[in-house]
Amino acid sequence: MSNLDASRSGKFLLGGELPIHRLGFGAMRVTGPGVWGETADRAEALRTLRRLPELGVNFIDTADSYGPAVSEALIGEALRPYPGLTIATKAGQVRPGPNEWIPLGRPEYLLQQVKMSLRYLGLEQLTLWQLHRIDPKVPRDEQFDAIKSFIDQGLIRFAGLSEVNVEEIDAAARVFPVATVQNHYSATSRMREDVLEYCETHGIGFIPWYPLSGGSLARPDSPVHTIAQKHGASPSQIALAWLLKRSPVILPIPGTGKVAHLEENVGAADISLSDDEFAALNQLAQAQRRK
Ligand SMILES: NC(=O)c1ccc[n+]([C@@H]2O[C@H](COP(=O)([O-])OP(=O)(O)OC[C@H]3O[C@@H](n4cnc5c(N)ncnc54)[C@H](OP(=O)(O)O)[C@@H]3O)[C@@H](O)[C@H]2O)c1
Repeated sequence: MSNLDASRSGKFLLGGELPIHRLGFGAMRVTGPGVWGETADRAEALRTLRRLPELGVNFIDTADSYGPAVSEALIGEALRPYPGLTIATKAGQVRPGPNEWIPLGRPEYLLQQVKMSLRYLGLEQLTLWQLHRIDPKVPRDEQFDAIKSFIDQGLIRFAGLSEVNVEEIDAAARVFPVATVQNHYSATSRMREDVLEYCETHGIGFIPWYPLSGGSLARPDSPVHTIAQKHGASPSQIALAWLLKRSPVILPIPGTGKVAHLEENVGAADISLSDDEFAALNQLAQAQRRK
């Protein structure tokens, strides 16, 4: 495919100052089954990562726990020193094994993981670091104070949260500037619309994870396939185009370990949904408000 360019998805100012292209990339899928260990096709994963800047994708989401450490190390191998790229990472979950995720928000652990991400990515400062989960076993202000100290020390430039509600964002914003929120959200999983509205009001980037519903929205039997056919587009492109139209603060990060799927997804930047199509897609899921 040629002429693909994620810059046509529009621009967002991270933290109100750093421009990124809205259509980004999620680097959780360049690891093994259960987000554990190395991927079976490491060469294709490297090719996928190296294709990102050629396609105008300049915002990459990863985490210390993807692998663990596999995704960050692969990104470093493929793309360091990251010309024009913004790498966002996260910490705050431990991985006893495949498909297991346990929040751990003790400040000394978060500090260690910030420093490990710096090492694996080969950076002096993390541009965007996100608390993967607020650990319910640790007072949340201890976790927020730790994040403020990472910013004050220059270890991270911007900070974000993941899987949070409005009250939690408000509480965190009293301690440090919240640049992004990363919550589960897609055309068919419309959870926490109130969080999206809060992000719009406050200029916070809203990063929907699972934007393709883990791949089910990209399949031929996807609920968006009729509109896809009308556009001569793939279902994944329509699901991503819906997110891009839904709000200017939405920064989709579809995940894949395959060049062909990456290229297909970037094609979403060129799809313009009519208001009628947008309204039809809005019917796909009832907003499930969790407040
Ligand atoms: N904050 C959090 O708690 C959290 C949780 C989960 C994920 N995330 C982040 O969000 C990102 C996106 O979520 P996700 O990767 O779980 O789910 P997703 O983007 O909704 O879907 C990814 C799945 O869809 C498949 N896929 C992608 N493009 C495709 C295409 N064009 N055609 C057919 N299949 C396609 C991929 O398989 P192939 O590899 O075979 O293409 C993969 O299995 C992750 O990579 C990660 O960075 C964050």
